[in-house]
Amino acid sequence: MTLSHFSAAIFISFLLLTLHHHAESTQPPYSCDSSSNSPYYPFCNTRLPISKRAQDLVSRLTLDEKLAQLVNTAPAIPRLGIPSYQWWSEALHGVADAGFGIRFNGTIKSATSFPQVILTAASFDPNLWYQISKTIGKEARAVYNAGQATGMTFWAPNINVFRDPRWGRGQETAGEDPLMNAKYGVAYVRGLQGDSFEGGKLGERLQASACCKHFTAYDLDHWKGLDRFVYDARVTSQDLADTYQPPFQSCIEQGRASGIMCAYNRVNGVPNCANFNLLTKTARQQWKFDGYITSDCGAVSIIHDEQGYAKTAEDAIADVFRAGMDVECGDYITKHGKSAVSQKKLPISQIDRALQNLFSIRIRLGLLDGNPTKLPFGTIGPDQVCSKQSLQLALEAARDGIVLLKNTNSLLPLPKTNPTIALIGPNANASSKVFLGNYYGRPCNLVTLLQGFEGYAKDTVYHPGCDDGPQCAYAQIEGAVEVAKKVDYVVLVMGLDQSQERESHDREYLGLPGKQEELIKSVARASKRPVVLVLLCGGPVDITSAKFDDKVGGILWAGYPGELGGVALAQVVFGDHNPDWTYTSNNSMKYL
Ligand SMILES: *[C@@H]1O[C@H](CO)[C@@H](O)[C@H](O)[C@H]1NC(C)=O
Ligand SMILES: *[C@@H]1O[C@H](CO)[C@@H](O)[C@H](O)[C@H]1NC(C)=O
Ligand SMILES: *[C@@H]1O[C@H](CO)[C@@H](O)[C@H](O)[C@H]1NC(C)=O
Repeated sequence: MTLSHFSAAIFISFLLLTLHHHAESTQPPYSCDSSSNSPYYPFCNTRLPISKRAQDLVSRLTLDEKLAQLVNTAPAIPRLGIPSYQWWSEALHGVADAGFGIRFNGTIKSATSFPQVILTAASFDPNLWYQISKTIGKEARAVYNAGQATGMTFWAPNINVFRDPRWGRGQETAGEDPLMNAKYGVAYVRGLQGDSFEGGKLGERLQASACCKHFTAYDLDHWKGLDRFVYDARVTSQDLADTYQPPFQSCIEQGRASGIMCAYNRVNGVPNCANFNLLTKTARQQWKFDGYITSDCGAVSIIHDEQGYAKTAEDAIADVFRAGMDVECGDYITKHGKSAVSQKKLPISQIDRALQNLFSIRIRLGLLDGNPTKLPFGTIGPDQVCSKQSLQLALEAARDGIVLLKNTNSLLPLPKTNPTIALIGPNANASSKVFLGNYYGRPCNLVTLLQGFEGYAKDTVYHPGCDDGPQCAYAQIEGAVEVAKKVDYVVLVMGLDQSQERESHDREYLGLPGKQEELIKSVARASKRPVVLVLLCGGPVDITSAKFDDKVGGILWAGYPGELGGVALAQVVFGDHNPDWTYTSNNSMKYL
């Protein structure tokens, strides 16, 4: 066992010791318990085809009950023994409580936080992507079985092509290449939903439901006053076919995704959620999509309120159901659905179609099959969450994603002879806020970079370099230079965080923010040996000056590396893991 494996093993045992799983069991919500006094309806009959069961259920609902089911927070229908359901949960790179379906307030207090997608994607290893999402699906089931989930529909993966480098959400994607996003999406969906890596299916049953988002041509959030709610993407049919659609087509045809989300923006004037050609003709008819379609959150209201595309609220609702949307994230239908029906704008037949799609998913998830402990996935317990295997996978993903960009005169790896090291820079002691990117849950136990380095160089010193994080409007150059002069090696940890790139916030500048470049130059001049530069960021950063600076000997890109990112980076810097993919990656692209 190498030192790094040893230190990783210690970290992981430590994490396991700190997890407590008390046996205060809470029932997960389900319907159709054959042992209860309620009558046994045909929709409960597991021997009937799913479509017949859903049809039976829909036929029993009143108009008010139907309308109430068309939003993400779907209420219970007590007279039929059906519990409430939350369509909105998130699992971008780990089970998260960023939607409303998951709560970490019971036996399970956390879930494995894998690296942000842009880093995991850089492993170019679909089998690894698959293993991660399979683990996420399993942890999600454990959360459900513990009675802490009111939904099993996760609004991931984000397979929008990261075509515009300014995009604040590019970090959530597999990058700028349509093929890469397609492969990532397929692997993610198969893993989460419980299918095999090669696509072999577990019948119609779902471990958890994945949702390919955001359909389509979405890669602008908020840039100089222009936002995604009103943005009209002008896309040629060739660019749509070559660039934006392939990930969605693969996600549906090969991944057999059970969900799609239509995006806020318009494409060539038509709001995505109101686009019949997109949702019905392309997805359902051409690609044979058979799942449910949700709106992004608030995307129905903006069609009238912000885009002015529909003249009234009722028209907006009529437009989206005619186009093929099945459930709204929001409450516009709660407010205006009834009047859309009474004005004869929203036909009951379209409501019934939507409900048929929605209840089919709940049936496929096994939520109307009686006591879940007797069903597949019903015995997945809290011990499957934050398990040693999950944490190893998070570590492996971080290690395999980290990219070596420069290594003059083999500066890296640093010697394991307990050298004195200074970790300098605004991301040098990055906490969960930085390491997890966005759409994160609650990590099992995050290891900082400083903790990771202390496993190799126990007297590692730290200096933030900037007063205000990666924004670095105020640098502490003199202090950083003094620290740098005293040590054997300097590792500068720079880059971005969510203050620079995030949802609703695109970048205006692609260089390192504020005084970061000045800090790098000054510290590099002062230190005994050339420095190592580590970049934490999702979107691209122009580091031309460091590339051509002889005093910068090594450069590593580490994305946002997840809860074991501190261990992974230390292992890479000290040579216990080789970031050169030609030696280390198990490239299984050929399997997809
Ligand atoms: C957890 O949070 C949910 C939603 O707020 C709440 O309904 C539930 O009672 C909470 N459970 C516990 C054990 O506190
Ligand atoms: C590094 O960050 C951790 C976690 O945020 C904090 O507890 C610790 O005090 C920081 N270390 C230093 C030297 O600032
Ligand atoms: C690499 O991935 C393939 C494809 O699933 C798998 O069968 C194999 O065991 C993996 N090899 C290693 C060394 O992890």
